[in-house]
Amino acid sequence: RSVAVVLAGGTGRRVGLNIPKQLIKIAGKTVLEHTLQVFEDAPEIDDVILLMHHRHIAEAESVVAAAGLTKVRGVYAGGTTRNETTQRAIGILRTLTGGGADPKVLFHDAVRPLLSRRIISECVNALDHHQAVDVAIPSADTIVVTRQDSRGTDYIEEIPCRSRLRRGQTPQAFRLSTIENAYEAAAGDPDFNATDDCGVVLRYRPDVPIHVVRGDERNMKVTHPSDIFLAEKLFQLASHASPDPSREDSLRQTLEGKTAVIFGA
Ligand code: CTP
Repeated sequence: RSVAVVLAGGTGRRVGLNIPKQLIKIAGKTVLEHTLQVFEDAPEIDDVILLMHHRHIAEAESVVAAAGLTKVRGVYAGGTTRNETTQRAIGILRTLTGGGADPKVLFHDAVRPLLSRRIISECVNALDHHQAVDVAIPSADTIVVTRQDSRGTDYIEEIPCRSRLRRGQTPQAFRLSTIENAYEAAAGDPDFNATDDCGVVLRYRPDVPIHVVRGDERNMKVTHPSDIFLAEKLFQLASHASPDPSREDSLRQTLEGKTAVIFGA
């Protein structure tokens, strides 16, 4: 079976509103509902579990009930960090699936509501041949590595070759046993420090190659206030382009036609 884990345990400090950013309405629906709907509509996904910030579980349950989402098996409390939320999800999945099963699991940020069906499908298929899968896109910006001096001033330490750099998105997909093992190994490390789940596999299961699936510029993470505006525009374009979010080509054509209007060019 294939399970989507939607991670919604954060509060959205950088957006800075008095509700978590996954509960903001964009294009008429909460960000959370958009995200859950993509998995609901994906034929490759059998089950969805949602981990929500512990103070907002009731709101999440209402979103699920009102939208009639049939694949959502439960709404659970997230942890205090994203990695802790993932670890809770692993425990829940182990309980739900029993000891012997090794389902495919896709961990996705609730705040990436413009995920395409193509990405889901490629992640699920890739898990037939790989134990771990990440989603990434080339970086348009040059990425620089910095170091701080004792006064807190930044200096460049390295400028890695841009052609090899990618920006990581989600989902990050694994066989349950692989991500479970990686977190078990991490538990013994007093210096554990990671922000994403592929980072945990890379460090604690170095024997596991991590396959990369091509992401999509639209699969943005709502992080700063301006992203709400951008996401709203992208939803508008998607609805002009095609009701099917997996039709990236159609969206691209519409974008080419609309770019001049949006950016006033
Ligand atoms: N997340 C989570 N549990 C946490 C923290 C984050 O499940 N304890 C989720 C968020 O809800 C989000 C995703 O991880 O869907 C990506 O994290 P990020 O964009 O950093 O979200 P927040 O932590 O909410 O934002 P901020 O860092 O601005 O507070």
